[in-house]
Amino acid sequence: LAFPTPSATNEVARFDAERPAAIGIVGCGNVFGRYVGGMARFQELHIAGCADLLPERALAAAEEHAVAAYSSVQDLIGSPDVDVVVNLTPPSAHAAVTAAALDAGKHVYVEKPIATKLADALRLAERARDAGLLLGSAPDTFLGSANQTARRAIDDGLIGAPIGVAAFVTASKSETWHPDPTFLFQPGAGPALDLGPYYITSMVNLLGPIRAVAGSARIGSPTREVTSPRRRVESIIVTTPTHLSATLEFESGVIGTFLASFDIWDHHLPYIEIYGSTGTLTASDPNGYDGNILIKARAGEAWCTLTPVIAAAAATSSADQFVRGAGVADLVGALNGQPHRASAALACHVLEALEAIEVSSRERRVVELTTRCDRPAELSARNDE
Ligand SMILES: NC(=O)c1ccc[n+]([C@@H]2O[C@H](COP(=O)([O-])OP(=O)(O)OC[C@H]3O[C@@H](n4cnc5c(N)ncnc54)[C@H](O)[C@@H]3O)[C@@H](O)[C@H]2O)c1
Repeated sequence: LAFPTPSATNEVARFDAERPAAIGIVGCGNVFGRYVGGMARFQELHIAGCADLLPERALAAAEEHAVAAYSSVQDLIGSPDVDVVVNLTPPSAHAAVTAAALDAGKHVYVEKPIATKLADALRLAERARDAGLLLGSAPDTFLGSANQTARRAIDDGLIGAPIGVAAFVTASKSETWHPDPTFLFQPGAGPALDLGPYYITSMVNLLGPIRAVAGSARIGSPTREVTSPRRRVESIIVTTPTHLSATLEFESGVIGTFLASFDIWDHHLPYIEIYGSTGTLTASDPNGYDGNILIKARAGEAWCTLTPVIAAAAATSSADQFVRGAGVADLVGALNGQPHRASAALACHVLEALEAIEVSSRERRVVELTTRCDRPAELSARNDE
């Protein structure tokens, strides 16, 4: 599958790099404020306004965050004042909202997963390509200082040749903080598609594409009680696997161990560890941009914290770790001729790898992936370049 970068002669290249890109946000829920706050850090982005299926939510969000509200999603998507639609709807609406925005001639950046099914995601990528539009997708946290620092260390051979990687998605407590986490327990989410994209994207950035997946998946508990203080529902019927375990075979020969669960109430597991021929690297939470990357370069040596190769976006411990927007700036950079890193090609490959765990579990076979993507371009400039 090919995802060509737009050439200098097509529609995409006519974007006016002299003014900020006008961003229209669709979906004014829980994550909305983090995008508004995060995008404000990028001078190449200007928020034109927001819209929601429920107009009252758009109005409330617009008032709270001092942005304009469109009267409907159609108004926003059809507006000549919007260049890029940022799709922050729940996963089940991602494909339809993205398709409508592409049909209206807008570039789109969509929250993860790019779609709930690989077939839909591939259709969207093809639609964008045929229309000369850019489609980008979360997660964008691999653009942060932590993942870029880990990548430089691996590429520079600080742990020798990578042999294995282990990644553990263990955040199990959404029902204690999200007002209505129902969608997290439905097809299109679960720990695999909700948090898995951070981990798989991070690993693909560090180690390259995945060739094959074998896995097992199950539902831990048929219902979940919601205890969030601002809850809009009391309990949830679980309809997607909440505990998955997989072996990932990377094209490079690296073997990955991947656990994704909403059923782990406590643990002593790392986020992501990479085992090389001479050393080990331990990465910070791939759901954040910054964090400490630890390596033990050789047996007998002490663990050391690597110096970040790019500046951190926020204090490691601050809530700004979860502020979004870098991926939207990445898409706008690509409109202006920079590499597109948080691209549809990457998101499709990540979705296929995650989808493959359930396919493998159901069909009791190793699943060979059909998509591939190159590692995204490194973000940091090397001193010797
Ligand atoms: N909540 C988080 O902390 C978080 C963090 C990172 C990423 N995300 C991702 O962001 C997306 C949104 O998550 P959220 O937690 O904000 O969800 P949410 O349910 O709080 O908000 C979604 C909003 O989209 C609106 N909506 C639903 N269908 C729509 C449609 N067809 N057209 C227009 N609007 C529609 C809803 O009315 C709601 O206001 C998801 O893909 C999620 O995975 C969420």
